[in-house]
Amino acid sequence: MRLTFSVVTLIYLSWDFQECFTASVTNKTVTSDIYRPQGPLVMCNFLPKEFIECAEPVDHNGNKTAKDELGYGCVKFGGSRYEDVEQTKVSCEVLENIECYGDRKFFREGVPCIKYSGHYFTTTLLYSILLGFLGMDRFCLGQTGTAVGKLLTLGGVGVWWVVDVILLVTNSLQPEDGSNWSPYV
Ligand SMILES: *[C@@H]1O[C@H](CO)[C@@H](O)[C@H](O)[C@H]1NC(C)=O
Repeated sequence: MRLTFSVVTLIYLSWDFQECFTASVTNKTVTSDIYRPQGPLVMCNFLPKEFIECAEPVDHNGNKTAKDELGYGCVKFGGSRYEDVEQTKVSCEVLENIECYGDRKFFREGVPCIKYSGHYFTTTLLYSILLGFLGMDRFCLGQTGTAVGKLLTLGGVGVWWVVDVILLVTNSLQPEDGSNWSPYV
């Protein structure tokens, strides 16, 4: 009984030793081997963002059917509160020369549907307060139609001027293209 046990142990040990040996000598073939959590390679989809390149979230332009068909992407961008911001997955690829285990292309979850196109809240608010009677705030936001109206009526004889300042502060007036306020860095 004892003999059988030690023979089994011996076989197991030598097999284990051999595996260590081959793995450390031929490090290129490790990728096709089974994944070893304590081995030198991390899973590709665990790599931090410095080592991968990800696509921008797919923009479905408000078409919910298109999103349901594809299974991911953004129906709308932005939102004034964190909870309002949609999240989606994006396709990512590991940078060249970075070694890792598993598929080099994968999806990463939890990317917020946010995009910037160079609109700054503070700047727009200043325009709105100082030059609102000329519709400058709305021109900057890309709302040309209403901006012209505001200009021709000199800010709705002052009322529209004030209303737009309030709309801005309460986040009801936003860039026309659906982008978010760019952060100052
Ligand atoms: C929304 O997307 C679907 C699938 O791509 C397409 O068939 C449909 O025409 C789109 N609807 C609009 C309003 O663009």
